[in-house]
Parts: sequence; structure tokens; C-alpha cells
Amino acid sequence: MSEPMKPAPSTSPARVRTRHFQRAKDQGIKITGLTSYDMLTASIFDEAGIDFLLVGDSAGNTVLGYDTTLPVTVDELIPLTRAVAGAAKRALVVADMPFGSYENGPEDALKTALRFMKETGAQAVKLEGGERSHDQIRRIVSAGIPVMGHIGFTPQSEHGLGGHIIQGRGDAFDQLMRDARAVQDAGAFAVVLEMVPADAAERVTAELDIPTIGVGAGPHVSGQLLVWTDFAGLTTGRIPSFVKKYADIRGALTDAVSAFRTEVADGVYPGEEYSYK
Ligand code: KIV
Repeated sequence: MSEPMKPAPSTSPARVRTRHFQRAKDQGIKITGLTSYDMLTASIFDEAGIDFLLVGDSAGNTVLGYDTTLPVTVDELIPLTRAVAGAAKRALVVADMPFGSYENGPEDALKTALRFMKETGAQAVKLEGGERSHDQIRRIVSAGIPVMGHIGFTPQSEHGLGGHIIQGRGDAFDQLMRDARAVQDAGAFAVVLEMVPADAAERVTAELDIPTIGVGAGPHVSGQLLVWTDFAGLTTGRIPSFVKKYADIRGALTDAVSAFRTEVADGVYPGEEYSYK
């Protein structure tokens, strides 16, 4: 069984680095991550002590208005990643490699990773796939770039997987474990487990040396990651059942916008105190 959740250590590093991920797993300290796509949220999450910020290709859904992450390009993610990396003072910033930017092979993958590292200030990259991405991860790591793996449900393969389906259940567990071992063997410093049963995630976490980061993978993992617009109540439409809503940002913004509209219509805003003399 994994250790229960512990409070943030007083020895919390001034700047989170990949070695702190391993230290956290070894000491039973939970790692926290959120997605971020802009400098305002990045600075809030960073100051609140979140350990890593993922500039996810979920920006396709949350920022760019696509139905899936498939159309997202490197050129679209670079300015978002630069904004987040510029604002984060403590958190490790992870750049997500979008669909089509690494599947062609290790050299293509390295080229994409180099762009993110040179042009954004991110400190690591993430890419999807276990066994199938082994050589890409190994090539990027060999160039000195830290890689976070991502297995289980991998949104870039949603059509191949047949939709948003829980992975690693029953007979599929063996493939999940093979993927986890492949990512570790290739040199990744951590691996995201998305939408896998809690007991499967617990077994993978116990088997691997490197930390596991759960997104809908239950409590027995080394850390937790959520898409910020989901956890803060901004997203509309389909929100996975594993997401706990910690705030109602959409409701708060809607109230503020309605109040502004009404006050302008009624001639209440701007009053004297908001006008130049
Ligand atoms: O793009 C993203 O936000 C992600 C996480 C959901 C793991 O890949």
C-alpha cells in the first residue's frame, strides 16, 4: 500500500527540478501538478506551491476551441509555454508535445523537444505512449532533456482507443505494465497514468522506481495532475467523473459580467470615483 497523503515538506525546494520528483516518491511526499496556458494562472498556481505546470495540448480544448487535441500544433503551444515558463518561479514547467510532432521517429521527436527547450524556457517535455514511444523518449533524454511519459488513456489516440475509455483493466493490465516499464527504461523521470483503475495504478507505482502522476488513477500514485479549467469549474461540457470541482470560476465570472452589463446599462458605472477629474 502507498503512504497516505502528507503535508508539503518544510524542505520544499526553491526551484523544483526533476530530481525532486524522485525524492518525493522515495519519501512518500505527494507531487502536485496543474495544467496552465497563460502567465496569470501560472503565477497563481506557482505562488500556491503547485510543483509542476503542464502546458498541455489540452489547450486545444480549453484555449483554442477544438473538439480534440489532434489539431494542436507546436507553433500554437510555443507562445503559451513561453508565457507559463516566464511566470513560474518555483514550479517545473513541462511542455506537451502535440500529435504529429514525434510519431515519425526519434530524430523528429528530438527536433520538437529542442524547439520547446530553446524557444520557451520549459524545463521538460511530455509525450504520449509507452512501448511505441520508447525510442523517442530515449533519444530526447540522451540529449539532456527530461521527459515525462504518459500512458493509460492517451487523448491523442482517442480514435485508435475507441473513445474516452478506462485503460489497464483486466487483461489490459499487462500492456499497461509493459508501457510503464518501457517509459522508465527509456529514461523518463516520471510517468502520467491517465484514466486507469486505482488498483492498477497502485501496482504500477509499486513496480516502478520513477514517480507516477495520476490523472484519474486513484490515490495510490506519487502525485496528482488536473486540467485547471476542469478543477476550477470553468470548463463546460464533458468533465470526467474523477475531477473534483474546487471552485466555480464560471459562475463567479458570469455574475461579474452580468453586474457590469447591468450597471453600464443603468448608467451606474462608471460613477465619479471611476472617472478622471
Ligand atoms: O494535455 C493535457 O492536459 C494532458 C493531461 C490531461 C495529462 O496531457
